[in-house]
Amino acid sequence: MQVLTTIAEVRAARTRWPALGFAPTMGYLHAGHISLVERARAECGAALASIFVNPTQFGPNEDLDRYPRDPEGDLARLEAAGADAVFLPSPEVIYPPGFSASLDLGDVTRRLEGAVRPHHFAGVATVVTKLFNIVQPTRAYFGQKDAQQCVVIRKLVQDLDLPVEIVVGDTVREPDGLALSSRNSYLTPDQRARAPALHRALTAAQQAHAAGERNAEALRAIIRRTLGEDLAPATDYVSIADPDTLEELTTVSGGALASLAVRFGATRLIDNVRLQP
Ligand code: PAJ
Repeated sequence: MQVLTTIAEVRAARTRWPALGFAPTMGYLHAGHISLVERARAECGAALASIFVNPTQFGPNEDLDRYPRDPEGDLARLEAAGADAVFLPSPEVIYPPGFSASLDLGDVTRRLEGAVRPHHFAGVATVVTKLFNIVQPTRAYFGQKDAQQCVVIRKLVQDLDLPVEIVVGDTVREPDGLALSSRNSYLTPDQRARAPALHRALTAAQQAHAAGERNAEALRAIIRRTLGEDLAPATDYVSIADPDTLEELTTVSGGALASLAVRFGATRLIDNVRLQP
């Protein structure tokens, strides 16, 4: 596995692969990230992962400084997953002095996570555009775990005619349903024990939908009820939205995205499930 740290090194390496699958990450890799790398390799013949904790997608009071890092463990995991290369840029490589661009993709970036994290998706869209231009992948792999990020990236590719195919991989979960996340490492044992409530609540909505419930407010109520009273004050949102525009629905007629965000102390967890048409 090649370890690349400059744009010139990535460009030189890129000429060797006719097709390349790309999995961008912020490191502290777990089985969710690795599933994307393995799928990239299987589908494209070669896989490149990037590890870059992108400062512009963190708000001023968020966890940039304490975001978990494990570069050596990450390299070992990527090697074991069969990655052909990893791009590990320093902040100066991505944001040289004088850098000032920022991409605004409109309404989809202001709903849900965007309402709580106003500059988050501009940071994500800008860094992902730069990474696509540097890596020039055939396909790029993102996780359904961050459903709104997938919507934003699809819009980015469509609006700017970026020559890359977006693939979305399923959410990888712990046996008790908790979606794998680098931020799970922040949870205290008590918070960790309560965290599976997120997936339980979403699954309850999924079951109600499968049994015929089409009233979006009734589905939101099922989620809130299953989350329980102790998590109610810590819930940022419970959403039943259009899967493409992320607009809140009144009635679920086609497919929908059920999503939520809950705070456990200073740690915010997000999760979602799709309601299939
Ligand atoms: P990060 O949170 O490290 O996630 C990297 C990729 O792994 C994202 O596409 C994310 O959706 C996916 N992922 C995370 N947890 C997952 C899980 N449990 N199952 C499946 N996939 C999972 O998302 C980012 O980094 C950044 O915003 C980035 C796109 C790298 C831009 O900085």
